[in-house]
Amino acid sequence: MPGEAEIEAGRRLVREAGQIVALTGAGISAESGVPTFRGADGLWKTYRPEDLATPEAFRRNPALVWEWYDWRRQRIAAARPNPGHEALARLEKTKPRFTLVTQNVDGLHQLAGSRNLHELHGCLWTLRCVDCGEEREDRTVPLPAIPPRCACGGLLRPGVVWFGEPLPVETLQASLEEARACDLLLVVGTSAVVYPAAGVAHAAVEAGHPVIEINPDETPFTPHATISLRGRAGEILRRICPP
Ligand code: OAD
Repeated sequence: MPGEAEIEAGRRLVREAGQIVALTGAGISAESGVPTFRGADGLWKTYRPEDLATPEAFRRNPALVWEWYDWRRQRIAAARPNPGHEALARLEKTKPRFTLVTQNVDGLHQLAGSRNLHELHGCLWTLRCVDCGEEREDRTVPLPAIPPRCACGGLLRPGVVWFGEPLPVETLQASLEEARACDLLLVVGTSAVVYPAAGVAHAAVEAGHPVIEINPDETPFTPHATISLRGRAGEILRRICPP
């Protein structure tokens, strides 16, 4: 856990910044009981992304992919936002400009009250037709056992970004622009190994802005951070953000 001097340095950066961007990853939802991908108990330790999180996997075995996403939706439906999500939602209300850029698909930031939000990897609570591309919000839990069809006849799939798929272009561009223009960027609970998402943090560094990393572990981004606060997102954010 960081000492009071490090926490105070983080608190000061947050206090003095008018324009803040936060880039979050699975670690911010860990304290809500949502599994991360790469930790000791991470999803990719038990499951293979190529079997479950690629367009080829869905073409090969839509029912298997559907079942896995339904299992994740059930877990997440039972989860509540934690003090980390809540601190970022409060920060949005106190700053002239605050943008939350998340790799998470769980919807917990919205539930905590965040509004200016870019979901780089889509949303688990959206279904999209593989043929006509129409999207709809769907919060049914559990889902029907086999993927339903759109009015056009196409299969519905989770509205998330899978490996090998491009990120939503405008969302990514807007996130990079915010990162280049901010006074401070927070990188919270991400292993920072998945691109282009991790590039949002590097965009702030390249533009010369301070970056605070919050993570219990070191990541490839750590050497680029102005301050690295080692600890859980809920505890650290509660200490450096306004009450
Ligand atoms: P990862 O699972 O790769 O990394 C989670 C990070 O959270 C790790 O660095 C942990 O050390 C950290 N962590 C764990 N508990 C924490 C806590 N309580 N507070 C703060 N940090 C904590 O998750 P992401 O970086 O989000 O993409 O993964 C990026 C992308 O890879 C995901 O969006 C997903 C995945 O494959 C797709 O599915 C396309």
